[in-house]
Formats: sequence, C-alpha cells, structure tokens
Amino acid sequence: MTHLLAIETSCDETSAAILTLDPARTTLRSCTILSQDVHQVFGGVVPELASRAHLTTLGAVVDQALAEAGLAMEDVGAIAVTAGPGLVGALLVGVMYGKTLAFARRLPLVGVHHLEGHLFAPTLEHPDFAPPFAALLVSGGHTMLLDVPAWGDYRLLGTTRDDAAGEAFDKVGTLLGLGYPGGPAIERLAATGRPARFKFPRPMLALAETPGPDQFAFSFSGLKTAVLRAVQASDDLERDRADLARAFQDAALDVLVGKAAAAVDQLGYPTLMLGGGVACNRALAEAARTRLAGRARVVVASSRLNTDNAAMIGAAGAFRLRRGDLSGLDLEPRADLILPGLIPVPEPQGIPR
Ligand code: KG4
Ligand code: ZN
Repeated sequence: MTHLLAIETSCDETSAAILTLDPARTTLRSCTILSQDVHQVFGGVVPELASRAHLTTLGAVVDQALAEAGLAMEDVGAIAVTAGPGLVGALLVGVMYGKTLAFARRLPLVGVHHLEGHLFAPTLEHPDFAPPFAALLVSGGHTMLLDVPAWGDYRLLGTTRDDAAGEAFDKVGTLLGLGYPGGPAIERLAATGRPARFKFPRPMLALAETPGPDQFAFSFSGLKTAVLRAVQASDDLERDRADLARAFQDAALDVLVGKAAAAVDQLGYPTLMLGGGVACNRALAEAARTRLAGRARVVVASSRLNTDNAAMIGAAGAFRLRRGDLSGLDLEPRADLILPGLIPVPEPQGIPR
C-alpha cells in the first residue's frame, strides 16, 4: 500500500490530494483546492499573479491535504504532479515542488498530463467506469472529443477551430456583464430564461453525421459574435439578459451533445464521459442523457472533481505509476504538452480504425 501525493498548479487552482494505492484500487483520502480569487477583478487569469499565488500557498495546501488524510509527509510513497499543458510559470511551481520533494525523500515521481487527469476523474467516484468510452473534454482551455478504447490509448476525433467551449461561456459571461468565470453564472441565469426568444447558430453541427475532417470539429467564435450582435441590438439588457443566456447555452449544448452523440453512435461504445469545467453544467449532462437514453450511459464526475483539482491528477498518476511510466528529475513543465498515447488528427474520411 502506497500513499500518493498529487499536486495540480496548471492554472488558477492550487490543489493537493492524497490517494491510497492498493494493487487493484486507488482510493481518494483527501483533496484540498484553493481557488485563486485574485483574478476576478481582471476578468481572466493573469499568469504572473497565478504563479505567485501558487508559490505562496502550495506548502500550506499540501499540509492541509496531509492533515485531512491523517497522514504525515513521512507516509508519502510517491508523487504525481501536473507537467502540462497550462501556464508554464504556474506549472513550474508545482513541478519544482514535486521534484524537490522526490529528490529529498528519494520518492518515485510521475509527471501527469492535465487532460489525462480530467479523463480519470470519474474513476474516483464510479469504480466501474472504464474504457471503451467516448470522452468530451470541455474546459476553459480545451474542447476535445476523444475515442478511448483503453487507458493510455487516446484517439483524437475532433477539437475546436477557435475558442474552447469554456472560453465561449466566459466571453459571453463578460458580454452579459456576469463577471468571471462566466460558465456557472450563465447556467444559473439560463435556468430562468425563455428558450425561444433568441435563436443563435449551431456552428458545424450540421456536419456531425458526415464523415470528414470537420465531422467532430467545433467552432464557437461565430456563436460568441452572434451573442455580441444581439447584446448590441438590445434596447433593454436587463430584460433580455436571461433569455440571451438561455439561447446561448442552448446553442452551445446542442453542438456539444450533437457531436458527442454522433461519436458514440459511430464508435458503438456503451459510455460517454463528460469532463472538464464545463461538464459541471447540469443542463449539459441532462441533454446528453436525454439524447443517448437507451443507447449509452453518460458518466460525469461531481463538480469538485470536474474543475481543476489534484485528485484527478493522482488518479491518472496512479495509472502511470502502475505502468512504470516514471519521470526523472529532469521533468520540465510544458505549456503545450501532448497527451501521451494520443493519435492526433482525424483522417479526411471517417474515423480511422
Ligand atoms: O477545467 P477547468 O476548471 O479549468 C481549465 O482547465 O480550463 O474549466 C474552467 C472552465 C471555465 O471556462 C468555466 O466558465 C467553465 O469551466 N465552467 C462552466 C461551468 N462551470 C465551470 N461552464 C458552463 N457551465 C458551468 N456550470
Ligand atoms: Zn482543467
């Protein structure tokens, strides 16, 4: 039995978690997440401020994770840390911390890909969740539709041509005067909005059934511009705000669910997993469940494990540790780290098998 310390500092959450690894099981013992609120006044994450905040708080966050697990640093037998992608200065804080600890205590070290962490998040709550599945990873920085035939084996079906899904929520949140991050505020407001007062485009959705390079590709910038035009045309934003939020969310979710469902059908898999910050959106999970009823189950981790956290990094790290995929002390953070085992872009005709 090994206790794994996991660390996540890729963006604006400083997080540490303790997981217990038995030969066959990974159990979450504790997870501490400190969300940096310093960025709210700027309407987005300021990289330099994120690095500084990680630097001043990471030690205390690790101490708290250990205390909540009822353990001391002496009990830790391995270290997993997010190595990318993300803000390089922010990543550097976690990676240096992890490497120093691994060196001083002679512990095995695993550099984890942030998105592999998101993929593993549901395993901590749904022990029966396993490949094969289709995955829709939607966060502030990423929009990816993946075919996951086995852990460590990832086939990219499609990604975004411009803005990430979460970025679109954040930008529309700003347009509607809702502050940062926009996602949760839009979801709350949309729940009170009327569905059909505004009609926004569903970019690239019509291609979901047509094999080709754009079948599973996304684009959100045109949708964002359509919302901007509607906001500019409104003579009473107070009156229209909730209806605009509803129409935007309906359009964005239609595209996400339409493409994900088409992927599930084409792959013939029994499971769709939704991950990343946007997967906290309950309307997204509901729409996916409705669309796939009787065809596939939809697995989503709880919100705490869907936004950035170290528990998911520990879950992916445990997989890598068991496989012997260890990192050396030359581990370096990479802002553009590529998902290990990723088969990149779709072929022009259909899904390559
Ligand atoms: O995964 P995450 O915590 O950080 C990144 O790796 O980017 O995702 C943050 C993103 C933000 O864009 C935020 O607006 C979005 O997730 N988000 C939501 C919701 N909660 C968070 N988007 C839509 N609906 C939500 N309820
Ligand atoms: Zn993330």
